[in-house]
Amino acid sequence: MHPHTPAQLRQLMPALANKSYFNYGGQGPLPTPSLAAITASWQRLQELGPFTAEVWPWLSAQVSGLRGVLAEGCGVPPARLALTENVSSGCVLPLWGLPWQPGDALLIGDCEHPGIVAACRELARREGLSLDTLAVKDIRGDSAAAVDGAVLTALEAALTPRTRLVVLSHLLWNTGLVMPIAAVAARLQEHVRHPWLLVDAAQSVGSLPVAEAASLADIYAFTGHKWCCGPEGLGGVALSARLLVESQPTLGGWRSLANESRQGSAWHADSRRFEVATSCTPLLAGLHTSLELLESLGSCEQRLALIQERSGQLWRGLQEVNGITPLLSAAPPAGLVSFTVEGQAPEAVVQALGQQGLWLRSLDDPACVRACTHVTTSAAEVERLLDALRQLV
Ligand SMILES: Cc1ncc(COP(=O)(O)O)c(C=O)c1O
Repeated sequence: MHPHTPAQLRQLMPALANKSYFNYGGQGPLPTPSLAAITASWQRLQELGPFTAEVWPWLSAQVSGLRGVLAEGCGVPPARLALTENVSSGCVLPLWGLPWQPGDALLIGDCEHPGIVAACRELARREGLSLDTLAVKDIRGDSAAAVDGAVLTALEAALTPRTRLVVLSHLLWNTGLVMPIAAVAARLQEHVRHPWLLVDAAQSVGSLPVAEAASLADIYAFTGHKWCCGPEGLGGVALSARLLVESQPTLGGWRSLANESRQGSAWHADSRRFEVATSCTPLLAGLHTSLELLESLGSCEQRLALIQERSGQLWRGLQEVNGITPLLSAAPPAGLVSFTVEGQAPEAVVQALGQQGLWLRSLDDPACVRACTHVTTSAAEVERLLDALRQLV
């Protein structure tokens, strides 16, 4: 893959040609070479197969190639990386297979996604577990150190001897703060029950360096279709060594089996125990290509610096618009910039901006408008958004 500049990558994304796009945290735009790779992969699948001895080594190379790339990004060996369809299945499949005991408590961050919270609630209902809340929503720290300190203080206040699992996103999808996952993991290790740590990585993978956090969590679940700019329908989950021993598949299928054609086969001992059955393999080539394109812009750290440059530009600009208040009291640590507009409902703001071809989203809790900046966001686009907001207030 040739090195690209952000502007060149932008040119490869048809979604960015006719609008100002600030919804990377909802879904990233798919580059044309990634779409071409999916089509080419589908063609190759037909030429070699679809169900022949010739196709299996090729398919297996596709799977292990992408597994290796994702595992490396997560700082884990390939045997600890399962391919999934999305963030939610990456959270739920290993979570539901853990050995729960009635009375165990799930400690859930108050900025978690409703879908993940719902899965935890249902688990609690079935297994007789209780739910506790980890309060991070009001943290606005002026520095990373202040945020880390506030999260650890909140964790200390919320842990009890019954805590068996902590659920916390790496990058909060609403306020945009980065959680100190390594420090949380270290604290949980000291806890009498060493609670499992489930990290929702929907917003972090593709926008932050994640190897440290992903390798320390028990379940680190992500998707390819947001900040990685891959196709929808393909994601992954990094799993800890202890989780692979302790969790049994709940939705198991032939791909979960050590020997798929033998009756009575045991589950795979590695991450593949959470891969279920037939899935759409051409998507692998699409995500692989998107990751290579992003990589061609520089390391994770260099890409985060580009993201921060634009989110910082937007955050500083918003500070100067009367009637607009960014949620964070310092420039965002990544690419999520949330704000409120005085006297206007977030949905109405999103609708008004959409009519001008500027695409953002609203969030309910805390009620706000969210703009995402990625490596492909241009300075001019940010200025256009600021101009539109000045007109609106
Ligand atoms: C923080 C967070 N978690 C989970 C999800 C669900 O993602 P998926 O549809 O890949 O399961 C989203 C999607 O918006 C999200 O932002």
